[in-house]
Amino acid sequence: MAFVNEDNLTDLAVRRWATARPDRLAELMTALVRHVHEFAREVRLTEEEWAAAMEWLAATGRISDDKRQEFILGSDVLGLSTLVVQLNNRFSEKATPATVLGPFHIDGSPTVGSGHDMSDGLPGTPLFVSGTVTDTEGRPVPGAVLDVWQADAEGTYEAQLPDVDEARLRAKYRTGEDGTYCVRTIAPRGYSIPMDGPVGELIRRTGISHYRPAHIHFLIDEPGYARLITHLFQQGADYLESDVVFGTKDALIVPFTEHGAGPAPDGGRIDEPYLHAEFDFVLDRRPEAP
Ligand code: BEZ
Ligand code: FE
Repeated sequence: MAFVNEDNLTDLAVRRWATARPDRLAELMTALVRHVHEFAREVRLTEEEWAAAMEWLAATGRISDDKRQEFILGSDVLGLSTLVVQLNNRFSEKATPATVLGPFHIDGSPTVGSGHDMSDGLPGTPLFVSGTVTDTEGRPVPGAVLDVWQADAEGTYEAQLPDVDEARLRAKYRTGEDGTYCVRTIAPRGYSIPMDGPVGELIRRTGISHYRPAHIHFLIDEPGYARLITHLFQQGADYLESDVVFGTKDALIVPFTEHGAGPAPDGGRIDEPYLHAEFDFVLDRRPEAP
């Protein structure tokens, strides 16, 4: 074997990793080696910078557990999570675009009836979100389950509150025969990503924004359709253009229109002013298995 010098090192490492099995692992690892070496050469990485990066990775591992995944947060703020969503969810242009899942989805939310108030009396401005779920030809998808979750009016999620052990601001709604749905909740507030770990420490050094704009998450996973994980963002909210996780898409920005007390979108009445967001979700067909 050839011994190592600056010129042949990348080739040697790529050739060694090319022997990995299975083939896909070899493909991933050889590309990683090439790009990481190229990065170090391009920025002329110093030994101090390399050591700081290793320490940052170790700290990211130390703070992560089954409840906190700091590496995913790191991937989010680098735009990698959104890129992976983009590469793997190339829906028809007619379909609702996908965006990041985020760390606050909880399995097993309660199934509730149309118009149910998932805020359960929490303080905040009442908000109705209503519309349809259809396929790309405009045909209603009856019985589709919309798994919905959001932060409260202070920008806090249930998982961030140690004393809460019941579902809070999350529920599953089902579309009717005509594909319509109606969620009742309170308006969420934009919020900062967790800043008490290595990702926060890195962001703080840069002065880039660490906020997400006000949004509500939706997951619709219907048999026969591509799974849709997406958000709706409040039009005019702060941070729409600087979303720290690059999740905001034009097609997902919706006006939250103001209404006075009176008839409500769920067919009933409401005795206080409220907001109403109307949005029609469009599901793509599930891609054929290769
Ligand atoms: C969220 O929207 O819940 C979220 C997404 C990525 C990172 C942090 C939070
Ligand atoms: Fe969120």
